[in-house]
Amino acid sequence: MKDRFGREISYLRLSVTELCNLRCRYCMPAEGICKRRHDEMLTQEEMLLALRVAAELGVRKLRVTGGEPLVKRNILGICEGAAQIPGIEEICLTTNGILLPTLAKPLRRAGVSRLNISLDTLDEKKYAWMTRVGALDTVLKGIEAALDAGFERVKLNAVLIGGWNDDEIRPLAALSVRWPVDVRFIELMPMAERAAFDQAAYIPCDRVIQALPVLEPVDGIDGVARMYRLPGAQGRIGLISPLSAPFCAGCNRLRLTADGRVKPCLHAPLEFPIKGMDAGGIRRQFLAACAAKPEGHGQLSHVHRSGANRSMNRIGG
Ligand code: GTP
Ligand code: 5AD
Ligand code: SF4
Repeated sequence: MKDRFGREISYLRLSVTELCNLRCRYCMPAEGICKRRHDEMLTQEEMLLALRVAAELGVRKLRVTGGEPLVKRNILGICEGAAQIPGIEEICLTTNGILLPTLAKPLRRAGVSRLNISLDTLDEKKYAWMTRVGALDTVLKGIEAALDAGFERVKLNAVLIGGWNDDEIRPLAALSVRWPVDVRFIELMPMAERAAFDQAAYIPCDRVIQALPVLEPVDGIDGVARMYRLPGAQGRIGLISPLSAPFCAGCNRLRLTADGRVKPCLHAPLEFPIKGMDAGGIRRQFLAACAAKPEGHGQLSHVHRSGANRSMNRIGG
């Protein structure tokens, strides 16, 4: 599938649930989200049918997201089913890591090839505060379980927030020395509902370069991240800068939400429903979403908020 700007769409982000076992303050309200009616959400069969259609249209890489994908009861079945679809070459998953101590090996066996794990702080108290309910120790064990299970190119995601964790750039980056993992710093995106941040919360990725002048540029761009390395480190450092240096020109993605909407862009309100449709209908919706893909998300800042009409846990990052 090619969009109006000549971009080849080969990457689908599938959100399998809006639910999460954490309540990160920048993502979710304290009380969680209202549980939706079961019949509003895609079934496993509908997800796999949509994936089959997407693969026929040229999707080669699947990233499973949420909410937290590992709280989905049939997550292994979804991954196993996806691994059998001709054309899907890579199944990746983004998780908060809490359930990896038990699920890392089964996920590997189910055909997941790569994991990205969210970790915003290495301070136990701050982790408990930022996630409202999480324990740092569990996610650290989850990262080790992912490495033990043989996942390669594991990436850790840290969203930088001024006054919260911007004093932790060096210790977080040092994880790429301790483990063979890429550590990626992400600029906070001003999503719907999470409006309480002022300008000081939005830390540009250049701050990482200032904190770590020894960083050496390597490998150019990997997906959405500009890559660097600390001398002697096993893994790399990535900078994801949707605000200070948008990467829309190279965007190769569509999204499918847990309630069955194809989203052409993370920051656009456009949605193309597929719930209850047959393969032909789903195909038409994917093509319509691809044709409607905007050139970019325009300016994003604490005043220019995301045009997405959903909170992050309801899109899938
Ligand atoms: P790989 O490149 O496959 O490793 O994954 P990824 O970086 O695309 O996925 P991940 O789920 O780890 O997301 C990392 C960060 O990038 C999150 O904050 C996402 O919200 C953000 N992100 C992913 N895709 C896009 C996009 O198309 N636009 C913008 N602005 N941000 C994105
Ligand atoms: N801005 C940037 N990244 C975010 N994530 C969640 N909310 C935001 C936001 N507002 C990150 C999570 C996870 C990834 C899927 O998206 O921390 O690592
Ligand atoms: Fe859950 Fe991820 Fe949102 Fe945190 S950022 S509450 S882990 S969906």
